[in-house]
Amino acid sequence: MSGHDTPIPMTARRSGPLSGVAEIPGDKSISHRALILGALTVGETRITGLLEGEDVLDTAKAMRAFGAEVERTGDGAWSVHGVGTGGFAEPADIIDCGNSGTGVRLIMGAMATSPITATFTGDASLRKRPMGRITDPLALFGARAYGRSGGRLPMTVVGAAAPVPVRYATPVPSAQVKSAVLLAGLNAPGQTVVIEREATRDHSERMLRGFGAELTVEDSPEGRVITLTGRPELTPQTVAVPRDPSSAAFPVCAALITEGSEITVPGVSQNPTRNGLYTTLVEMGADIGFENPREEGGEPVADLRVRFTGTLKGVEVPPERAASMIDEYPVLSVVAACAEGTTVMRGVKELRVKESDRIDAMARGLEACGVTVEETEDSMTVHGMGAGNVPGGATCASHLDHRIAMSFLVLGLAAQKPVSVDDGAPIATSFPVFEPLMAALGAPIARVNQ
Ligand code: S3P
Repeated sequence: MSGHDTPIPMTARRSGPLSGVAEIPGDKSISHRALILGALTVGETRITGLLEGEDVLDTAKAMRAFGAEVERTGDGAWSVHGVGTGGFAEPADIIDCGNSGTGVRLIMGAMATSPITATFTGDASLRKRPMGRITDPLALFGARAYGRSGGRLPMTVVGAAAPVPVRYATPVPSAQVKSAVLLAGLNAPGQTVVIEREATRDHSERMLRGFGAELTVEDSPEGRVITLTGRPELTPQTVAVPRDPSSAAFPVCAALITEGSEITVPGVSQNPTRNGLYTTLVEMGADIGFENPREEGGEPVADLRVRFTGTLKGVEVPPERAASMIDEYPVLSVVAACAEGTTVMRGVKELRVKESDRIDAMARGLEACGVTVEETEDSMTVHGMGAGNVPGGATCASHLDHRIAMSFLVLGLAAQKPVSVDDGAPIATSFPVFEPLMAALGAPIARVNQ
């Protein structure tokens, strides 16, 4: 879907203690990958715990357009009858990836080494985002791309009829770029190599191996070297999607800044490529218990017991941690505003090319709520005001960005005056049950005029 016709203004007001158990839905990154790899595998892949958010539903629709049979068989349960590596059919119409950068970039990779042409578009947010970071490496396989100026959508990708394997060092730390190259490499003969200087989320590597691809990872002086042998015989899988640690961040941070709170969040990923926020919160002095460590859906997970203490301190978040918490900086900046002292986040310029320019969006909204923020191209500094001291009382722009909307609503729970967002509709892209889940914990978050 290309955008929302009707904005949904929402308000959060100062909350009493949050309590209860927050059952977080499936991981967005893993959900996209399960659908795409299922579609690239002959036979039936069954998925449970799929995130049924708009981003992932758009990817499901796209996989149908490329010829896979994709069916919802129950709550979060999906069946994909794939067409096999190199088996994608040419879509009859434009592929609309809605708000999803992950969806469009991974799908471009997956089709780029098949002799078909596809045109991609998305909502107003996605149409602003750079695609050159994907089409540059796809050109090395022999694919061609024709988009708007600056490499923006709508964009037509002409897949390579005779793809060659590629060795590519990613110029930006991006799991989407890495994954697009690996998915393209599936239908190239020989070995495709991706080198990343900093480790980014490794779900593609884990899942490609799980589907039977030959894939090795080595640490070298150049960085992480990932080698995929092309044209593997993939075997259909049963994929149990674990819960999304990026969604868990919202109730966790809400509990940490809302007086008297104590909540439990079961099954939160401890994958080191995803858990930078939790490391940072513990450094700030957060009271988080990591209980019952175990494996779920191929990911290390723990049950989080989160308690408000009112004694969080500002920290310096090192740049090398950025990739492991890239989606969590907006809500971290809210926690930082409610902590004592200054929090400095460095090495975060990738935040400027997300669903919105997240440094700008958070800085403007926090300032409107009475918080002092400094920014550079690559960093953000938040001057904490201490628990319960953020004035609030503003309406913040969400810029079609789910994480910006949810972050400001979390802030409203601990601010002195209500905090509103102009549009909460994008929350449905990644966390469709955010409102009932937060309400069940006791959070007064409501749609305006209802
Ligand atoms: C994602 C990678 C990250 C992240 C996005 C999901 C993925 O983007 O921000 O929400 O599933 O690969 P980048 O690869 O652009 O850092």
